[in-house]
Amino acid sequence: MNETTANNEQTPAGVGPWGLKLAGVGAALPPKVLTNADLTAWMDTSDEWIRERTGIGERRLGGTTSGLATEAARAAIEAANVSPDEIEQVILATTSPDYMLPGTAPAVARELGIDCGAFDLQAACSGWVYGLVVANGLITQGMNKVLVIGAETLDRMTDYHDRGTGILFGNGAGAVVVERDETNQGQLLSWDLGSNGQHVHILYSEHDGKIQMDGREVFRQAVTVIQRSATNALERAGLTVDDVDLVIPHQANIRIVEAAWKRLGFSMDKTEMVLEHTGNTSAASIPLALDSALTKGRIDSGSTVLFVGFGAGMTWASAVVRWA
Ligand code: ACO
Repeated sequence: MNETTANNEQTPAGVGPWGLKLAGVGAALPPKVLTNADLTAWMDTSDEWIRERTGIGERRLGGTTSGLATEAARAAIEAANVSPDEIEQVILATTSPDYMLPGTAPAVARELGIDCGAFDLQAACSGWVYGLVVANGLITQGMNKVLVIGAETLDRMTDYHDRGTGILFGNGAGAVVVERDETNQGQLLSWDLGSNGQHVHILYSEHDGKIQMDGREVFRQAVTVIQRSATNALERAGLTVDDVDLVIPHQANIRIVEAAWKRLGFSMDKTEMVLEHTGNTSAASIPLALDSALTKGRIDSGSTVLFVGFGAGMTWASAVVRWA
């Protein structure tokens, strides 16, 4: 580890005096679908190549970041059975805000009809897990309900004629009402946040530019940081791989997940993936996969769920939650 590498290896587990409950989850995808077959109309590629190298079959385009975020947030608020005005803070993880200035979270709060604190959080594909850890801190400080959203319109930043990046990215949003759990059953058992600013130029976009990526290097670095971050989080929770009921990784590329799981000893059976139908939706991907896992009934009260995010920056973030 060198001086440009920030990590929190000395930070103890983030367990607060109160429990924490992910009380309601919602998702939103814009209706326009771009399939692999569609891409072959203008790109020298094939459905088979894209599926084999990435696990992606289609991605969604269109919408706005605030619009998708609001739709997902409304669904999460309804699922949590709370009123919008009970929300005390909106955290919007995004790498594709509506404007450079202002942030997009206040517009989401406006659309929800609330005027609580609202800010954007930019940690690329790790952003939603960073947001969950921040929400836990706010709840530890006395808040009751925090809305943590991941929302992206990556089609504005993606060149769909570029074979390296155009096959990967899409739009979507996922939102979670994170609530204080007075019963202490639900807990954020541990977390691990980190970054390495040496790797800015393996995945970046200039203002008003398109995403530039060194795919091979992103792949290599991602597998390494997933392994390290998931291991740190599990160790801090005093758990092993066998104690985890479900893993929800950032949905970047099935081969990245498979390579990391091979090193960690996780099975794909315990992993929720939505990548095939969404592509890489950056900060939205983990809450979108969480929504899917809940819809399929894969999470019960008492389940241990591991979230693992990794992305541009590079940043990484893992969190272990005991579900209530
Ligand atoms: N369709 C068909 N052939 C292609 C395509 C394509 N879209 N892209 C590249 N190729 C060909 C190349 O021309 C090359 O052919 P050659 O061997 O005849 O010269 C061959 O495939 C290999 O090219 P590479 O660029 O080395 O392709 P690679 O195997 O690295 O796959 C990919 C590219 C899929 C992008 C891969 O590098 C990857 O998955 N990287 C991880 C990136 C990622 O997931 N980023 C997500 C964002 S990061 C995040 O969210 C954390």
